[in-house]
Parts: sequence; structure tokens; C-alpha cells
Amino acid sequence: MRLALSRRPHTIAPVFFYDERGSWLFEAICQQPEYYVTRVEMGMLQEHAAAIAERIGPDAELVEFGAGSSRKFRTLLAALHAPRRYVPIDVSGAHLQQEAAALRRDHPLLEVTPVVADFMQPFRLPPSRPAARQRVGLYLGSSLGNFDADEARAFLAMAGRALAGGGLLVGIDLVKDPAVLHAAYNDAAGVTAAFNRNLLVRANHELHTDFHPERFYHHACYAPALQRVEMHLVSMTRQTVRLDGESFTLAEGESLHTECAHKFTLNGFRALSESVGLQPGTVWLDAQRWFALQWLDCPPLTGSDPFPGAHRPSPT
Ligand code: AVJ
Repeated sequence: MRLALSRRPHTIAPVFFYDERGSWLFEAICQQPEYYVTRVEMGMLQEHAAAIAERIGPDAELVEFGAGSSRKFRTLLAALHAPRRYVPIDVSGAHLQQEAAALRRDHPLLEVTPVVADFMQPFRLPPSRPAARQRVGLYLGSSLGNFDADEARAFLAMAGRALAGGGLLVGIDLVKDPAVLHAAYNDAAGVTAAFNRNLLVRANHELHTDFHPERFYHHACYAPALQRVEMHLVSMTRQTVRLDGESFTLAEGESLHTECAHKFTLNGFRALSESVGLQPGTVWLDAQRWFALQWLDCPPLTGSDPFPGAHRPSPT
């Protein structure tokens, strides 16, 4: 936050949205009629569960990056062939533990090993179960869209190593009519606006800043040339915020840039994946071509490291 306030433009990483209230507000966004992303992807997971389970194969260990409520995994679960373990990873610890407990209660035979981590930082995956044949990753909901191109490549390279010899299923939101995108990020009930402002509420609680969230308005807009929705909190007045005894002034109309949600073309996403050595396979699309589930094969590790410098989880 200090960094965000001291540099211009003021940019905050979207990962900070997800405290307990933020995760809850995000779940509420997913229920909004304008926010098609979750609904369309869930429909696709339901419709293609058998084919996806086939692609995942028997005796797999499933690792879900940014698992949130695990609702999507639950949709696939019934179709999976003898899954060995489910490893949901999320920064929102309390939420993750609650959902893991609920999943264990509903599926007593499934081993669930949650990992509280920001997977863009070095982290450790629990050792693979000896009985597991391969590791398969899930990165759903177009969360990848939060990253810029370098971060997306770093994520894919890291995941490719963690899942070497297995695969990764990525949910990506495709470029479409900006009016659809605009509605999705400006829902009439104002839930997205509340989610955006929650960042300031959270900073006030955890960092003891003195933001007035009501003096910022929510702004979300699609930039076609950049293929992304940008979310901002725009200061309605000239105002000063204090952080650790330091004061930062925001001019009237100055904004905190809180999120980018990149949209993809199929070719663009495949090229991105191939640039870090992952091999695009089956892709599932909805009838309107709004969203894609892209399968990526993760080649087995060889002795040499073809992508030096990228984050990798510790070898297990
Ligand atoms: C969780 C990053 C996929 O960008 O659509 C929803 C977050 N932000 N509404 C998205 C979000 C505003 C969401 N992702």
C-alpha cells in the first residue's frame, strides 16, 4: 500500500482484494446476472465434465490455483476417475480452510490438502501421493487475466514445472463486445463497486490507514487496444490519507488502479502458453464463444532448466 501510494499511477495488485470479506464479495459478484463469467464457465464444466475427466485421467492429483470456494472442483469431482487428492491453493486462508472442511465432510474418502499461499511467491506443494499417476492443475475463472503478460508467463512456467508430466486446465475469458464486459464489471446492484472499495476497508483495518471509502467511486472500463478491463477507485475530492505517520495526497479525480482483467483470443493464449513450453490440446468453448477452457500438456522435466529465473515450487 505504501508503494502504491508513493508511486504514480497508484497501482495495487488484485491479490489484496481477497481478505475474508473480499472473498465473500467476490462470491456475491459471481451471483450477479451481469457477471456471466462464472455462470458460463460452470455451465461448461457441467456439460463437459465427462470429457474433461477423461482428459485428466485416472488416479490424478488435482491442484487448484486460487481455489476460492472450490465450487468448480465440486462440479468436476463426480466425473473424475479415482482422484487421489485435491490440493486447493488460495491466499484467503480462513475461507480456504472452511471450504476444505465442507468438502471433506461431503466426500469423506477424498484427501483434501489445502495450501494457504500466494502462488506467485515461492511456495511448497505437499509431496505427491505415491499412488498418484499425474498432477493436473486447474486455473479457472480467468484469474490469469489479472496478470500482465510477463506475470502470466511466469505463472504458466511455474505451473508447468509443478505439474510436469501432467496437464493444466485454464479457464480464460475471451474478447467480446465491450458492452457485455462493461455490464459485467459494473453490476446494477453495486456489488463490484463494494468489492473494489473493500480494498480500502481492508487497508483501514490491517494497515490503520484512514481512507474514506465513500469518497471514492468505482470505475471499470474495457480498453480494447490493451484487451483488458481496468478497475479504478477514483477520488471524488482532494483528500489526504495517513499510513504509518506519513501523509499521501490524492488529487480530485486521481485514481487507485486496483485491477486489470485481461481478455484473450484463443490464438493469443496458445502462443503465450507455447512461449513457456506448454502444449495446447483440447479447447472447450460455449456456444457464444465468450469463454474457453483450454487444456495444456505440461512436458516432463528434463535435466536442464529451459526457463531459468521463473518462480518454481520446491521440488517434492
Ligand atoms: C477473479 C480475476 C477472474 O477479473 O473477472 C470480478 C475478478 N473483478 N469483478 C475478474 C473480478 C471484478 C475476476 N477474476
